[in-house]
Amino acid sequence: MRTQVYDVAELNEEALRNIDVAGKILAEGGLVAFPTETVYGLGANAMNPAAAADIYLAKGRPSDNPLIVHIADISQLEKLASGQMEVALALAEAFWPGPLTMILPKQKCVPDVTTGGLNTVAVRMPQDAAALELIRRAGVPVAAPSANLSGRPSPTAGAHVIQDLFGRVDVILTGNDCRIGIESTILDLTGEKAVVLRPGLLTPEELGTVLGYIPEIDPGILKKPGSEEGQNPAPRAPGMKYKHYAPKAPMEIFSGDPRRVRQAIADKKAAAEAEGKAVGVILFEENAFERAAHDLFARLRDMDDRGVDLILAGAVNDRDSRGFALMNRMLKSAGYRITHV
Ligand code: TXA
Ligand code: MG
Repeated sequence: MRTQVYDVAELNEEALRNIDVAGKILAEGGLVAFPTETVYGLGANAMNPAAAADIYLAKGRPSDNPLIVHIADISQLEKLASGQMEVALALAEAFWPGPLTMILPKQKCVPDVTTGGLNTVAVRMPQDAAALELIRRAGVPVAAPSANLSGRPSPTAGAHVIQDLFGRVDVILTGNDCRIGIESTILDLTGEKAVVLRPGLLTPEELGTVLGYIPEIDPGILKKPGSEEGQNPAPRAPGMKYKHYAPKAPMEIFSGDPRRVRQAIADKKAAAEAEGKAVGVILFEENAFERAAHDLFARLRDMDDRGVDLILAGAVNDRDSRGFALMNRMLKSAGYRITHV
């Protein structure tokens, strides 16, 4: 497939013309990758089953893993979703456009392919100006997973998307690096109480200011999926059960007192290098969660490009909700290999 790449970092006249072309391609059933403030998305017309199905093909994604439907206006929410709309609208007013995805019962018009066969739908209004412009010009809700090949780290720069999807999609819009760098917080509003299905930089405490209580975190994501068979509930967001974000090299996390963590990493690095291995190290500045989130996936991709044999990482403080979201991504990247020192 011929892929057009358009730079939309600055929304000048030329960029808007190209976004208009991309919007028409979306409306007609094509695939367009675009920047958002969290990670890049791979978009298709959410209301067109054939177009949504093409997303799974382009990404190599399992078809039981539902897509997030992106909208550009709060009024589109009621056309797609039903259920606890008062709560949903209050959350939308407070946090949209932004890194919040809400799960609600779906309206009939939303195709099963888009929701992976579920009777619920995930909806989000992204904050990135190019993304909003694209969705407006498409004139339809846009189903979009992260724009990586299935199993690779989510893309946070245009170059990552080109690396994974060039030749597989109609258009790639490249913009600035994603401001946030990890995917949106997913909040399930289908039960009596809201539940966080995927942690993100928008925290349960912040959601609590609108909900009136701090939502619990889906217990299914707290441990390695499939560990302790029978006791460990499956994650309620189907995508959270997959090994995600995996860099090519094995990754190991060390947690504990920061000085001991640095020492353990230095020792392990020296030992691996003595065996002729190339070792990559990821150590974030303490409590600099936003910076770390911004950098994590790019660092993992960089390790892939450099062809390292082993990645050693220091745990971040997961008592902070933003640190917890970050550790969720790091643990998945490491296949839950963590050593306390
Ligand atoms: O920040 C984001 O959310 C990015 C950007 C592009 O908006 N998108 C993203 O999409 O991360 P994706 O497909 O990589 O992750 C979507 C997650 C998956 O874990 C999926 O299982 C879950 O959302 N999901 C989607 N619809 C759902 C539903 N109806 N019920 C439960 N989980 C759902
Ligand atoms: Mg993804």
